[in-house]
Amino acid sequence: MQRMGHTEAQAVPVVHSAIPAALAAQSVGAIAAAALWVLAREHLYVPHVAIALAQAGIAALAALIFGQPRWWLAIHLSFAPCVLAALALGLDPRWYLAGFVALALVFGGVYRSRVPLYLSSTAATDTLLAALPGAANLRFLDLGCGLGSVLDRVSRMRPDSACAGVEAALLPWLVAWLRSGRGARYRVRRVSLWNTRLCGHDVVYVYLSPAAMPALWIKAKREMNPGSLLISNSFPVPGARANAIHAWGARGGDKLFVYRI
Ligand SMILES: C[S@@+](CC[C@H](N)C(=O)[O-])C[C@H]1O[C@@H](n2cnc3c(N)ncnc32)[C@H](O)[C@@H]1O
Repeated sequence: MQRMGHTEAQAVPVVHSAIPAALAAQSVGAIAAAALWVLAREHLYVPHVAIALAQAGIAALAALIFGQPRWWLAIHLSFAPCVLAALALGLDPRWYLAGFVALALVFGGVYRSRVPLYLSSTAATDTLLAALPGAANLRFLDLGCGLGSVLDRVSRMRPDSACAGVEAALLPWLVAWLRSGRGARYRVRRVSLWNTRLCGHDVVYVYLSPAAMPALWIKAKREMNPGSLLISNSFPVPGARANAIHAWGARGGDKLFVYRI
C-alpha cells in the first residue's frame, strides 16, 4: 500500500464563511435591543424575555439584509431566547465551558472547511460495499473519516483490503484511531485531506459537503491514479458526469456518485 506519510504544500480552498455575517447580525440585534431597553426603562418595566425577543427579531432582520440564507433565520430567532432559557436553568458555568471545548474539538474546523461531522448511514455503507471493485487487495481511503465507521465496516467486510483514513478534528480522529485497534485494522492519520496525497489508492471515498467538491475534484484529477475511483456520498461534483450512481432508501433520494479517474 502507498505510504500515507507524504504531504505536499497545497492550497487549501478558500471557502466563503457565513460566520462573519452571522456575528454581525447578532451584534446588530444586541446593540439595537440594548438601546431599546435603555430608552424604554425610564418609562416602563421591560421584562428580559421582551429584550431577548427584540434582539432575536432584529438579528434575523439584519441577517436578511446581510444576505444570509433563510435557514439562518431559525438560528438567529432562537439564539437569544435559548441563552435566556439556559440562564434560567442556573447551571454551573463550567458545564458551558466543557460543552464549548467538546464542540470545538469536534466542530472547530468547520469555520474554515464547512464540512461538519455527520456519519454515513449503514445503508450508505452497504451501498458503498456493493459498489467497491471486487479485485483483491483493494486500497481504500476515507478522506475525512470521522469516527472511522466506514473504515471499520470496509476493513471487516474486505479483510484483504488496505484501508486508511485521514481526519482533521481531534476527537473524531481519536475515536477512529481507537476503533482501528490503534492502527492494527486500518490506518488513520490526523491531517487535513488537502495535505494528503491521493495517489496509490484504488478507491477514495468522501462524504463532505457541496462547498468542498469543486476543489476536491481538481485535486483528485491531479493526484489519483488513472482508473481509480472517487466515490462521493450525497454530493456530486458540479459539472462532472458520474460514471455510475447508486441510490438507496425508499425514495432513492440518497446517492453515491462514482467517478472513474
Ligand atoms: C460528513 S463527515 C464524514 C465522516 C465519515 N467519512 C463517514 O462517512 O461517516 C466529514 C468529516 O470530514 C472531516 N473533515 C472536514 N474537513 C477536513 C479536512 N480538511 N481534512 C480532514 N478531515 C476533514 C470532518 O471533521 C468530519 O469528521
